[in-house]
Amino acid sequence: MTDRLDGIHVLITGAASGIGAASARRLAREGARLLLTDVNGAGAKALADELGQASVQADVTKSADIERMLDRAYELWGRLDALLNNAGIAEVRPLFDITEDQWDRMIAINLRAVFFVLQGTAKRMRQQAPIAGSELRGKLIQTASIAAYRGGHPNMTHYAASKAGVVSISRSAAQALAPHRITSNCICPGAVDTPMWKKIDSEWSALEGWQTGEAWKRRTAFIPLGRPETADDVAGLASFLVSRDSDYMTGQAVNIDGGLVMGN
Ligand code: NAI
Repeated sequence: MTDRLDGIHVLITGAASGIGAASARRLAREGARLLLTDVNGAGAKALADELGQASVQADVTKSADIERMLDRAYELWGRLDALLNNAGIAEVRPLFDITEDQWDRMIAINLRAVFFVLQGTAKRMRQQAPIAGSELRGKLIQTASIAAYRGGHPNMTHYAASKAGVVSISRSAAQALAPHRITSNCICPGAVDTPMWKKIDSEWSALEGWQTGEAWKRRTAFIPLGRPETADDVAGLASFLVSRDSDYMTGQAVNIDGGLVMGN
């Protein structure tokens, strides 16, 4: 336990699983106060109870839920120092098979909701006093993906498009919100060992007629740093972006992928 994030209040979406949950554990260890939210309210609550933090059930595609989770944060603390705008889904579908409903669902969760969570949070952040000891009023951190640049996977067109949009939103927000002293950055993980990748592996392996586990094996075989990525690897970057050490950084999409993609 360090005190690097003492007095910092953070809302995490998609906190019940994977990267969101690992980030919650890391930030809690460093002294942050957390509000954990997820469409899986029971999962968010179980983790919050374990960490001695707060939780609220919220589906980020619903504007009433976004308002409710933000109300809760401001009831608890009267402010929000950082947002980890992280909830998302993945799906493997060949380009020729993606239906309009599948496209719309992907964009609704991974892109539209990311924008409206960011917008709702920024509206409140711009009215609050600066973070203690900082010139900033707040920090917005989105989880995008290296899929934003490299075409993702040929069978994840809709996912890759949603993540390219998240990078774009993060950069436009950085420009628009700089005068309000709010920063906006995004994290671009590679292939992270979470329940999401288990789903990708089973759908992708089934599509190719491979055994379960084969897609993951192939995807992680040529990572320059020589091992698959863990959710804890990503949590370290989340902690840096929440911390004051990143105060002079905005509009960035930071790859954390063991060297899979160098540049963007
Ligand atoms: P995960 O599936 O383990 O966790 C995602 C969480 O988001 C789940 O708890 C789920 O209930 C929640 N969620 C889904 N829809 C929601 C909604 N409508 N409202 C509120 N919560 C919702 O996935 P993982 O791997 O932790 O992914 C987190 C983020 O990281 C996602 O945005 C994902 O696209 C991104 N990412 C993941 C990578 C990976 O390899 N696992 C690589 C690059 C990016």
